[in-house]
Amino acid sequence: MGCRSRHLSLSAILVFIFLACSSPLARPENLNKDVTNLLTAKATLSDEDNPFLQTWDSGSSICLWRGTQWSYMNGTSLNCDDPTVVANQTLLKDPEVVVTSIYLGATGLTGSIPKELGLLSSLHTLWLRENYLRGGIPLEIGNSASLSVLVLDRNGLNSSMPPSLWNLCPRLTILELDSNDLDGEIPVPVNPWTECSQLRELRLENNRLTGEIPSFLGDFTALYAVDLSNNSFSGSIPSDLSKLTNLTTFNVANNNLSGPLPSFMTRYDPSSFTGNPGLCGGPLSAECDGSSPSNRSTPQGSARSPSGGLGPKVVAGIIIGVLSFFVVAGSLLIFLTQARSRVPNEKKQLHVDLKREFDEEETGGDSGKIVHFEGGETLTAEDVLNATGEVLGKTSYGTVYKAKLSNGHTIALRLLREGTARDRGEFVPAIQELGMIRHRNLVPLRAYYSGPKEEKLLVYDYMPRGSLADLLHNGSSGKPGLSWERRHKIVLGAARGLAHLHTGLSTPLIHGNLKSKNILVDDNYIAHLSDYGLEKLMIPAATNDVITAAGTQGYKAPELIKLKKANTKTDIYSLGIVLLEVLTGKRPGKSVDWDEVVDLPAMVKAAVLEEKTADLFDFNIVRGNPRTPSEDGLVQALQLAMGCCAPTAVVRPEITEVIRQLEDIRPKVVSSVQSPPYTPDSASTRSREAFDY
Ligand SMILES: *[C@@H]1O[C@H](CO)[C@@H](O)[C@H](O)[C@H]1NC(C)=O
Ligand SMILES: *[C@@H]1O[C@H](CO)[C@@H](O)[C@H](O)[C@H]1NC(C)=O
Ligand SMILES: *[C@@H]1O[C@H](CO)[C@@H](O)[C@H](O)[C@H]1NC(C)=O
Ligand SMILES: *[C@@H]1O[C@H](CO)[C@@H](O)[C@H](O)[C@H]1NC(C)=O
Ligand SMILES: *[C@@H]1O[C@H](CO)[C@@H](O)[C@H](O)[C@H]1NC(C)=O
Ligand SMILES: *[C@@H]1O[C@H](CO)[C@@H](O)[C@H](O)[C@H]1NC(C)=O
Ligand SMILES: *[C@@H]1O[C@H](CO)[C@@H](O)[C@H](O)[C@H]1NC(C)=O
Repeated sequence: MGCRSRHLSLSAILVFIFLACSSPLARPENLNKDVTNLLTAKATLSDEDNPFLQTWDSGSSICLWRGTQWSYMNGTSLNCDDPTVVANQTLLKDPEVVVTSIYLGATGLTGSIPKELGLLSSLHTLWLRENYLRGGIPLEIGNSASLSVLVLDRNGLNSSMPPSLWNLCPRLTILELDSNDLDGEIPVPVNPWTECSQLRELRLENNRLTGEIPSFLGDFTALYAVDLSNNSFSGSIPSDLSKLTNLTTFNVANNNLSGPLPSFMTRYDPSSFTGNPGLCGGPLSAECDGSSPSNRSTPQGSARSPSGGLGPKVVAGIIIGVLSFFVVAGSLLIFLTQARSRVPNEKKQLHVDLKREFDEEETGGDSGKIVHFEGGETLTAEDVLNATGEVLGKTSYGTVYKAKLSNGHTIALRLLREGTARDRGEFVPAIQELGMIRHRNLVPLRAYYSGPKEEKLLVYDYMPRGSLADLLHNGSSGKPGLSWERRHKIVLGAARGLAHLHTGLSTPLIHGNLKSKNILVDDNYIAHLSDYGLEKLMIPAATNDVITAAGTQGYKAPELIKLKKANTKTDIYSLGIVLLEVLTGKRPGKSVDWDEVVDLPAMVKAAVLEEKTADLFDFNIVRGNPRTPSEDGLVQALQLAMGCCAPTAVVRPEITEVIRQLEDIRPKVVSSVQSPPYTPDSASTRSREAFDY
């Protein structure tokens, strides 16, 4: 039955066409193939109540079908900003119109993946993350003609992976099937010469996959992120993976792998291999029988290396070098050949008994003493001697240097200002306490050196991405990329670090100097607090200097003007200021140009009174975001921050409450419907970070 098959006046025909063709009863045969397939798929994806899928209707323009993107077969995308295109009902029938992406992440889909989605000839991206889909991945998906991004993570898919998936290979760039209920082995490609040369990301973690890690993955040379953790893989790590030169993220934790860790694997963090009782060697605690210790190489970023500790004379030399050159020159190659020749060939000491160390020092005359903490046991003098360094910053507590060791690792050295440290009776127990603290959101103290003239040098991990302050306020590159998701993640990490100090230790520790400069950020935007507990090492006069400086920087709780001692509530105040800083993008306290003082809490209060809260938020987190500030949790975050910055200390929340509220407003990973134009880069970066929240 055609729409035009009646003898009526022209206008009547037009009206009739409109009614008949826009009616949901219109016959599918008239419709474009992709439209027909999607209408069939709709019933399998979810039930009729799904508000997103309800928009998939032959009576409404394809421009209004939520989560879909369309183009002409010649590649020109459909301009759905043009009202005449939106109104054009003929597009539903135009055989030249094709669907190119489907973004239905976190849209409450409760059905299964329909095979019709594999029949869409130009579908490039299928993004169904965070739903309740069950069942399997249809064979048809693997045979899809154009698919290159397949993101099905965080569903309830309960089957095995179809071998046809590898048929996507020449085009496949991202495959995310993690956090499902998949079982069986990773299938072998039907065609043995399959080359997944574009595949950059393979995420299969949190499933029930078994069998060995296939060595053909080593041929997928573009891979830069592979996560197989939390499965039941067994066997050894295939040596073919060494061919993956671009692989930067690799995780096989919590499987049943065994055998020696291949040497090329030691560039990944040891946490990538935990939970595999049979793995041994490299940085792992289990040693392989018969492997020589000299082959153990070191994980990136930590100050480890194979031989003895820092020679005292050497460090003294460094300190002199540091004092006389670094501060002025900024960067310098340290060359102390004389001192190097006197490096004692000490044996590696893995578990240093601090008490004994200090006893030795007393009998050891005027030479200094090095104390190692976990992860810093094997810092060598050679490494440090050849280090190149530069000043990272100067604070009331002294100067911090970035030092690059000859083995490629970089460490952060903090030289305590002369005459600021407490005397040994108080200093030793305090440093011992700090050296024991380990938490994912705290920068670990790896070693400590005390020189013959009471010079004090603290060795920390170095964080290459810099601080939250750098990301927020320095340069043009970082800021636009600092989405609300990332900012939220950083603040939550900082809060967790602070919680560990306040509630996770036998005696609570006050940070005392929390500010965006002391929140360091790693490649995955995980926050690591620095400078914590230093006041325990300092004489009160030095601590007062710090508190005074904190005031000019705007992080100081009002009661600290009278009360000279920081406490947990003053830390919470500082955290509140950091949260305001992150939300507004404005630097608290005096700005660098000395032009104005931004009293952030006062500014927010004024804006709330004038009902202008929407203007407060940093342009970079609001721009291009289809969600409103309150949908995104921004308004709630603002309220939380204001609670933390309450002028009266007793009404400020405890850190555990702060964390609870932050977790409640954690932004959804991706706004899949109406998301901005998709690029594989942005998606993979986002998923890499989100996975490590
Ligand atoms: C593609 O096809 C559409 C509709 O047929 C047309 O409007 C557009 O100009 C074409 N684009 C190119 C690049 O040929
Ligand atoms: C509506 O779409 C059809 C099919 O693509 C096209 O041929 C026609 O020109 C369009 N009409 C208008 C008014 O744009
Ligand atoms: C997957 O789960 C569904 C619903 O729980 C169940 O009906 C189905 O049998 C399961 N399929 C497999 C292959 O286990
Ligand atoms: C590795 O990464 C670099 C830089 O992103 C890229 O140019 C190169 O093509 C990649 N190598 C492979 C084998 O894909
Ligand atoms: C692995 O599983 C454990 C326990 O189920 C969970 O806590 C952890 O977050 C999972 N790891 C990853 C990488 O998802
Ligand atoms: C782990 O692997 C070994 C063989 O390598 C096997 O005997 C054992 O049953 C496996 N354990 C589990 C829990 O799968
Ligand atoms: C240790 O390293 C040496 C050279 O660096 C190499 O010849 C030897 O085979 C390695 N041994 C093991 C057990 O990997």
